[in-house]
Amino acid sequence: MRFGYFDDINSEYVITTPETPLPWINYLGTQDFFRLISNTSGGYCFYKDAKLMRLTRYRYNNSPMDCGGHYFYIKDGSNIWNPGWQPVKTPLDSYICRHGLGYTVFESSKNGLDAVQEVFVPLHENCELTRVTMMNKSSETKEIDLYSYVEFCLWDAQDDASNFQRNFSIGEVEVEGSTIYHKTEYRERRNHYAVFHVNKEICGFDTSRDEFAGIYSGADSPRAIMAGTSYNSIAHGWAPVGSHHLKITLAPGKLYSCIFILGYCENPYEHKFSAPGVINKEPADRLISLFGTDDQFDVALHALRTYWKDLLSSYRITSANEKLDRAVNIWNQYQCMVTFNMSRSASYFESGLGRGMGFRDSCQDLLGFVHLIPERARERIIDIANTQFPDGSTYHQYQPLTKRGNMAVGSGFNDDPLWLIACVSAYLKETGDFSILDEQCTFDSNEDDKASLLDHLRKSFDYTTTNLGPHSLPLIGRADWNDCLNLNCFSKHPGESFQITGPSEGPVAESVFIAGMYVKYGKEFADILTHAGCETEAADVLAKVEKMCDAVLDAGWDGEWFVRAYDAFGAPVGSKVCDEGRIYIEPQGMCVMAGIGKDTGEAEAALRSVEKHLDTEYGIMLHQPAYTRYRLELGEISSYPPGYKENASIFCHCNPWIAISEAILGHGDRAFEVYRKTNPVFLEDISEIHRTEPYAYCQTIAGKDAATHGEGKNSWLTGTAAWSFVCISQYILGIRPELDGLRIDPCLPPEIGSFSCVRRFRGSTYNISVVNGKDTEKGVSSITVNGAPCGSSLIPVPETPSVIDVRINIG
Ligand code: GLC
Ligand code: GLC
Repeated sequence: MRFGYFDDINSEYVITTPETPLPWINYLGTQDFFRLISNTSGGYCFYKDAKLMRLTRYRYNNSPMDCGGHYFYIKDGSNIWNPGWQPVKTPLDSYICRHGLGYTVFESSKNGLDAVQEVFVPLHENCELTRVTMMNKSSETKEIDLYSYVEFCLWDAQDDASNFQRNFSIGEVEVEGSTIYHKTEYRERRNHYAVFHVNKEICGFDTSRDEFAGIYSGADSPRAIMAGTSYNSIAHGWAPVGSHHLKITLAPGKLYSCIFILGYCENPYEHKFSAPGVINKEPADRLISLFGTDDQFDVALHALRTYWKDLLSSYRITSANEKLDRAVNIWNQYQCMVTFNMSRSASYFESGLGRGMGFRDSCQDLLGFVHLIPERARERIIDIANTQFPDGSTYHQYQPLTKRGNMAVGSGFNDDPLWLIACVSAYLKETGDFSILDEQCTFDSNEDDKASLLDHLRKSFDYTTTNLGPHSLPLIGRADWNDCLNLNCFSKHPGESFQITGPSEGPVAESVFIAGMYVKYGKEFADILTHAGCETEAADVLAKVEKMCDAVLDAGWDGEWFVRAYDAFGAPVGSKVCDEGRIYIEPQGMCVMAGIGKDTGEAEAALRSVEKHLDTEYGIMLHQPAYTRYRLELGEISSYPPGYKENASIFCHCNPWIAISEAILGHGDRAFEVYRKTNPVFLEDISEIHRTEPYAYCQTIAGKDAATHGEGKNSWLTGTAAWSFVCISQYILGIRPELDGLRIDPCLPPEIGSFSCVRRFRGSTYNISVVNGKDTEKGVSSITVNGAPCGSSLIPVPETPSVIDVRINIG
């Protein structure tokens, strides 16, 4: 069942009922100021950091689910309604919500009145703009009351949700004309406030939630609106809110619009006040002057659309499969930007209070983002490298505001260091900018301890080389990519963190997955070294990689698939000798991507085992059989009910590893089948089962052991976005940046056949057309570049940026 449709011309998903299976959200904002917005206008906004700089309040885990948002109420006679339906939930005569690239629009009508609510965050400014437009379609003149309503968060969202004994006494606001200023804590150390303005004269306002909403009523039936008035309340403590009240007389056929600005303003400390206790309003005045007219609003919205159009033109395909085109050209790349910006901080499942930027998460997010804005990827790489420890190990997370490692979680996740090589390698392949290797990066943010980025990569590689266990496989530490495989934890006490309990260095537990990573990224590291002129060192790295390959094929091969790990007692995990958790997806994906056993048959056998034991109609499960009881020696993975999360759900993140592996082995049909199964765009028709947005990947889909097999959870902030884009763009469609140029080596299912692609790469534009006349899956039979035959599928980079015409025949 569908709850909307894709509008590809406008790059929008159009939701046609407010009652979607879960709130379906969008992200507004590209750089510093962000708004999460649901299809019923729920959500919140923040500046840079969802925990420390939150402008508006949101209540997670509530009933109804999506409580709190930036709401607009229309009172038209006895009808009180919202263009986004919530919170009043008056049945509407019509409703649609268009989630577009960086903007959301509601178009609704009730009783002869059409309302449009357009919301976006303009480029380069720290504010959210909303335009509410109303058109009287009836034959009577209407007397309309329009109200806005936001509830301010007292900045630190965690404190805001817990420290009530203090917070109920500190809230402060100012009101001047049509502008409301939220200035809690500004009297002391803060130098920022929130501004909420409307570009029209108002007839009243409220800033006290208790006055506006009432103590025994709420946003669904606000006391002020029910009474058709405003109380002009000034909040003193309790809950400061912002509500404007406008009165509009609208003759038949007439149109009315007004623009609301909700923004973040900052003053230099010396200019905080314009008079004792009065905030300096200059930055707010500036914002207001930028967006006060419809023209300014339209220009800013147009600029945002152009920005996205331009970004997405870095990789754009035309094929015979419209679902593939919309996934590749629009939604997957869009989500890659979101995960790059948010890491795992703020979604409808991540509260914005917890983890900062994950080390491994951010490194992987970059893989799907680097082609969009390489300069920002470069900055991010340096931020990440700056937190690495001198011995090559890394913090597991760092805070976006301070850019320092997060002590609370600490270190000891032994896959983390190698992901740094992964993202630097991706950056170099995309840009050819080897100067990044010379950048001096700190260790543990210590300005007195620096080394080149290349040295940081050496440390990453060496960290694994020097931390091997009894089978010559890498020690796992607290966990590897699978955060819930905690082989050194042994937790018996409820509430203990599985990730940071127990000795992280663990006696002997080893990871075959990290071994696969070491081989894959060791080879890429050797390539980087060769390009940097360090051939001898490259050869040394390759020798170590070779040894690791041997160790994997020796102790890490189980006969039909790769073993997952060895536990702290030296017993295998993910082996035929296990009663549960006999086969895992991760080592099959990582080892085959690394090329282990490619020529000797193990790679092929591993993928066939995955297909046989782990595949379902909704994607490939993490392992099988699921764990049915808690196992001290395995940790969190066995704490989940079977079929959910790391205990044998379809953990989407690893599915593209298998699809990539299939493509590497030349199985285009199977690669595409795996790619398609977890792709939300292809799941639109079963939205009642899948439940999460049909335009965003989710982290997990309930596995076959679960009661709700096929149900998606935790949409948006997942490494699945980046890996799926790598999979489809570089391996299935096969347009793959390499250090020396652009490789074009598709591995296509017969159902895709021929396609064309425009790829912007290192300043040039490649117009690529791939013709698959023979329905073969892989194998380039001829290539021409600008009309001339070319002997290799690696297209060299031209000396000066130009437009390059590439034609490829497959078969
Ligand atoms: C979550 C984490 C990620 C981890 C994965 C598997 O997505 O953010 O770091 O690799 O779970 O446990
Ligand atoms: C929990 C989650 C897991 C995530 C980890 C991050 O264990 O289940 O998916 O990776 O937390 O800390």
